[in-house]
Amino acid sequence: MAGLSVVVMAAGKGTRMRSARPKVLHTLAGRPLLQHVLDAAVPLRAERTVVVTGHGADAVERSATAAGVSFARQEPQLGTGHAVAQAAPLLAADGTTLVLNGDVPMIATGTLRALVDESVAAGSLALLTVEVADAHGYGRIVRDPDGAVAAIVEEKDASDAERALREIYTGVLAAPTAKLKGWLAALRSDNAAGEYYLTDVVRLAVAEGIVVTGVAAGDETEVLGVNSAAQLADLERRFQRRAAGRLMEGGVRLAHPARLDVRGELACGSDVEIDVGCVFEGRVTLGDGVRVGGYCMLRDVTVGAGTEIKPYTHVDGGGSTGTGASIGERASVGPFARLRAGARLGADVHIGNFVEVKNSTLGRGAKANHLAYLGDSTVGERVNFGAGSITANYDGAAKHRTVIGDDASIGSNCVLVAPIEVGAGATIGGGSTISRPAPAGQLTVARARQATIAGWKRPTKPVKSDER
Ligand code: UD1
Ligand code: MG
Repeated sequence: MAGLSVVVMAAGKGTRMRSARPKVLHTLAGRPLLQHVLDAAVPLRAERTVVVTGHGADAVERSATAAGVSFARQEPQLGTGHAVAQAAPLLAADGTTLVLNGDVPMIATGTLRALVDESVAAGSLALLTVEVADAHGYGRIVRDPDGAVAAIVEEKDASDAERALREIYTGVLAAPTAKLKGWLAALRSDNAAGEYYLTDVVRLAVAEGIVVTGVAAGDETEVLGVNSAAQLADLERRFQRRAAGRLMEGGVRLAHPARLDVRGELACGSDVEIDVGCVFEGRVTLGDGVRVGGYCMLRDVTVGAGTEIKPYTHVDGGGSTGTGASIGERASVGPFARLRAGARLGADVHIGNFVEVKNSTLGRGAKANHLAYLGDSTVGERVNFGAGSITANYDGAAKHRTVIGDDASIGSNCVLVAPIEVGAGATIGGGSTISRPAPAGQLTVARARQATIAGWKRPTKPVKSDER
């Protein structure tokens, strides 16, 4: 939007959180509160976005990602009015400024747009307000008998009659930038908290004869602030309920909508079923007909159509630094399987209990059904990798690859010492430690030959006197 500046206040300590972490870095659905606010503002295409930082400024500034964002330091933190005043020199001389609270994370872009439009149309200060059942802790909107906004009164400064008011200030306002700068310069800290309240700009505007407008927020959830661990947990549940609702609208069958956590982007095809207790992080894509069993944790993975992820499976494609993970169509993974970054399973692959796969490609129909480790390996089609067998990929200094050809069969309890190659159709006898190439199509065994010692006697215990 031409001439739009956005200021996000994020300098406060968040005393009521009782945490060493700056409040705006606490996460909602896996993302810092501040990032939710910045992301909501991105579509407005503001000319400038200024984040006011102070408490834990270095960490807050490192975490905030938005195009063209700049920072204004507030030291010490003397209140929300003082916070916006620190950003004022970075704002354009004219145009409109939208002020956002860094601790109101579920704010919707459409609401912000409506508020800015209202401020621009009226050439005046516009406040985002909402009616709540429990207004405790919020600034109350005080209106004249004719309904015009007269002031915002903070909880600490409110009379009993004002405390009874249910319409509250959400922490979001829009105002003509030039006028806002003037009001900020005139703020004083003679209140119960001894702070410069941003909310006092309302009184200053009214004193100038400006009509302050209130724009009603879409709903209460959108504008709830996070000031305590309990409020954060409440908001997380509301966020997740919405995420579950959107999935079900798309036809996803959730065993229990309240027992699901999406901390990222979950995209689902048709006829996807998700059992209770599953957590999805990063970018997860589930193809048509995928079934996810109870208590699975999936992060940064793409799952092909018709695949079943059995209970208690942990898949972690590695986040932003990882290479992701992918599972082909009609595969079966778990229960109790672990797939890590770079796990690439082809169609019809079976990975069973207590099998770990890292940075390995498994061809169509390959199976590792029990107690195995595949690391840095390339496994051909239809290979059977026996129970208890592992690729020894690490020599103490570097990682090496294992290559297994199509249709090879690795017996149980084998160690494939990388770098190593097993030819197509080769069979490795159970219990073998393979450190030289195993030729295609043949049986290779590398273990001590079985022997029976004739006449051998097991030692006997001396008989004690009292047992005689
Ligand atoms: C504020 C409003 C209140 C409103 C509520 C909505 C004021 C005086 N009060 O109260 O009317 O109902 O939000 O959630 O504005 N911050 C700074 N520097 C400071 C103080 C705070 O950057 O010196 C930041 C905080 O990091 C936070 C935001 O401003 O992101 C709001 O501060 P907070 O202390 O939570 O204000 P509330 O008491 O919630
Ligand atoms: Mg707050």
